[in-house]
Amino acid sequence: MKVIKFIKEMQTYSESLRLLGKKIAFVPTMGYFHEGHLALMKEAKKMADCVVVSIYVNPTQFGPKDDFSKYPRDFDRDLKMAESVKADVIFYPPDNEMYPANYQTYVHVERVTQNLCGFSRPSHFRGVTTICLKLFNIVKPHFAIFGKKDFQQYIAIKRMVTDLNLDLHIIGLATVREADGLAMSSRNVYLKENERSSALTLIGGLKLAQNIYSAGERKAKVIIREVEKLIKSADFTDIDYIKICDTTTLDDVGEIKSQAVIALAVKVGATRLIDNHVFGEELKA
Ligand code: PAF
Repeated sequence: MKVIKFIKEMQTYSESLRLLGKKIAFVPTMGYFHEGHLALMKEAKKMADCVVVSIYVNPTQFGPKDDFSKYPRDFDRDLKMAESVKADVIFYPPDNEMYPANYQTYVHVERVTQNLCGFSRPSHFRGVTTICLKLFNIVKPHFAIFGKKDFQQYIAIKRMVTDLNLDLHIIGLATVREADGLAMSSRNVYLKENERSSALTLIGGLKLAQNIYSAGERKAKVIIREVEKLIKSADFTDIDYIKICDTTTLDDVGEIKSQAVIALAVKVGATRLIDNHVFGEELKA
């Protein structure tokens, strides 16, 4: 496995693969890998000749109150894990490569970034789409693979790729969960032992929502009220939002008529967790 730190070297390497007619699949990450990341890499391996994984904790997607400096990092462990699934290249740039002095260009995807996490993390998606566009220009992939746990991020990136006519395919993979149903996230390490059962009310809430939907209920308000009751009944939980939205526009829906997603953001102790479920899809846990 190759480790590349510099943009020019990555671009030249990708270009040389493209000239040989090879396909490149890209998994952008902020490191501190878990099984969810490895699932993305394994999927990438199936679809391309070369799998590039970036590890970069992107400062522009963290707000002033977010956890940028204490975001978990362990490069050596990440390398071993990426190697175990036969990733080919790790792109690991330093900050001054990605945001040199006098940097001033950002990408803002409008409507789909307003709702949900857009309220509590106003500059977050601008940072995400900016770094993803930069990484796409550096890695030059044919495919880029994202987990659907970050559903709004996945939709915003697909929107950007369509709107800006980028020449790559965005693939979304189902959320990978722990045995108890908790969605895998690098932030799960922050959870204290006694907070874990409270964190499980997110998956509990999604299952409850699906059951109510399966029984025929279509009013978002009614479903949300029941999920809210469940999550509030647990210790340490503080709900940021529970919303039911159209899967394309991410606008709130009053009544579920077409494809809709229930999205949750809940603080459990000091840890903010998100999760979601598209009604009618399989909810593994
Ligand atoms: O999902 C993430 O880990 C990040 O938001 C991403 C896509 C790597 C951009 O920094």
